[in-house]
Amino acid sequence: MPKKTKLKMKNKKSADQKAKNEKAVKVLNKVEQPIKEKKIKAPRSFQTLKGMKDILASENKYWEYVKTKAKNFALNYGYEAIETPILEETALFNRAVGNETDIVSKEMFSFVDQGEENVCLRPEATASVVRSYVQHGMLNLPQPVKFFYFGPMFRYDRPQAGRLRMFHQIGLEAIGEESPIMDAEIIFFVYNFLKDLGLKTVIEINSIGCPKCREAYKTKLVNYYRDRKSGLCEDCQKRLVKNPLRLLDCKEEGCQTYKEDAPQIVDWLCDECKNHFVGVLEYLDESGVTYNLNPRLVRGLDYYTKTVFEFFSDNADGVEGRQDALGGGGRYDGLVEYLGGRPTPACGMALGLERIILKLKENNIEIPALRKPDIFLAQLGEQARKKSFILIEELRKSGFYVVHSCSKKGLKKQLEMANKDGVKYTLILGQKEVIDGTIIVREMEGGAQEIVDFNKTVQEMRKKIILQ
Ligand code: HAM
Repeated sequence: MPKKTKLKMKNKKSADQKAKNEKAVKVLNKVEQPIKEKKIKAPRSFQTLKGMKDILASENKYWEYVKTKAKNFALNYGYEAIETPILEETALFNRAVGNETDIVSKEMFSFVDQGEENVCLRPEATASVVRSYVQHGMLNLPQPVKFFYFGPMFRYDRPQAGRLRMFHQIGLEAIGEESPIMDAEIIFFVYNFLKDLGLKTVIEINSIGCPKCREAYKTKLVNYYRDRKSGLCEDCQKRLVKNPLRLLDCKEEGCQTYKEDAPQIVDWLCDECKNHFVGVLEYLDESGVTYNLNPRLVRGLDYYTKTVFEFFSDNADGVEGRQDALGGGGRYDGLVEYLGGRPTPACGMALGLERIILKLKENNIEIPALRKPDIFLAQLGEQARKKSFILIEELRKSGFYVVHSCSKKGLKKQLEMANKDGVKYTLILGQKEVIDGTIIVREMEGGAQEIVDFNKTVQEMRKKIILQ
C-alpha cells in the first residue's frame, strides 16, 4: 500500500475515534445533568375490605378459648373434625341453600375462575359437609357420621356490630340419624357449651314439617298474605310468589305486624312430623333444657325439614325481630339425596364465633390468659449470644416456652422485657459465665439468683418448672 493511502486511513481512523469519544463524553455529561426532580407519590396504604377484620394478638385469648372449648365439647359428644375447601362450585349452594334465599340471591361472593368455572366463597358449611359425605361414599360408614368444623364463611351483607362479610362458624353435622334424640342432643350441646362459657341462652324452636305437609300450609299462608299484599315490603311481595315460608322471616317492621295472626305451621304438621317434634321436645324436657316454642321461626336456608332452632343470648327484650342469633340449625332430611346421595336423614347447627366473643366481652366474662412464657434468656456479649442461641433451641425442644431479645440490649433492658413477659425465671449468660461454663438462674419475683452448670441448664429448669 502506498504510504499516502496508509496515512489517509490512519487519519480517518483517529477521526472516527475522536467522534466516538466526543459522543461518549456527551452521553456522560448528559447523565451528569441534574435530573429534574419528579414528584414521587407516597405509596398508598391498604385496609381490610368492608365487613372483614384482622384478628390481632390482643383478641387471641378469646379465639383460642372458645375454639378449644368447642373442640373438646365436640370430641366428648363423638364428633370428628372435618375441613372442607373455602371455595366451592357456586351451584352447590344454589341447590342446597336455595336460589330464592337472601344468602344465594344477594350475598354470595361468586366469580368465574381462570378455568371458566363458577365458584364462590362458601356462605355456610352444611352444603360442603354433605357434598363431602356424598363424594367420599361415607354412607357406607356406620351411621350417623358426626362432623365438627370451624372456619370462615362469607356473605355480602350490610356490615354492623356482629354482622360481618367474613365471619367464623363452629358447626356440627350429624348425618344418617332420623331419631329426635339427635336433634335434642345437638340443642343440648349448644345449651351446655354456651352455659359453660358463662352465657345464658334463650332457645327458640319450631318444626317446619316435611315437603308433604308444608305444601298445604304454604297455600294457607299465601292466601293469608295475599289479602295483605299492598302492605308488604318489596321483597315480601316477591316471596309471596317464590318462597312463601320466608314471609315469616322478614325483619321489616311493616311486615312484622302481619306475622302475629298468620297461620301457624305446627297446626298443619303431618302425623310423622308432629310425632318427631313432640319427641324432640320430650327429650329436651327430660334433660331440663328450657326453650320457647316459636311458631314463626323458619330460618333463612331452604334445606330444612322438621325441627329448626335458634340460640340467642339472654335478653329481657325477647327475641322477636332480633338479628343477633348466636347460632342456629335444624334437621335437613332431604339434602343428602338432593345433592346426589341416597335418602339420608341429617341434623346440624352452626354458631357464630364473632357474636359469641362479642357477648363474652359485653358480659365482662373473664377469659383465662394464654400460656405465658416460662423462661427469658438474657445474654451479654457476642459469645454469650451464640451460646444462648443453641441453649434456647434445647430448652424449646424440652417443651419450655422461651423468649429472648436478639438485639444487643443491656441486662437492665432485658430484665425489664422479662418482667413484661411475665416469666418466672430469667437465665443470664454473660462473658464470665461463658468462660466458667455456667449460667445464672434468676427467680423474677424475689430476685434470688443461683449459678448452675451450663450443661445442666435443661435439667435444672425441669426441676423448677413443671410443664403441663
Ligand atoms: P345461619 O343461621 O345462617 O345457619 O348461621 C349460623 C350462625 O352464624 C348465625 O346464628 C350467626 O351467629 C352466624 N352468622 C351468620 N351470618 C353472619 C354474619 N354475616 N356475620 C356474623 N355472624 C354470622 C347456617 O349457616 C347453617 N349452615 C347452620 C346449620 C348447620 N344448619 C344445619 N347445620
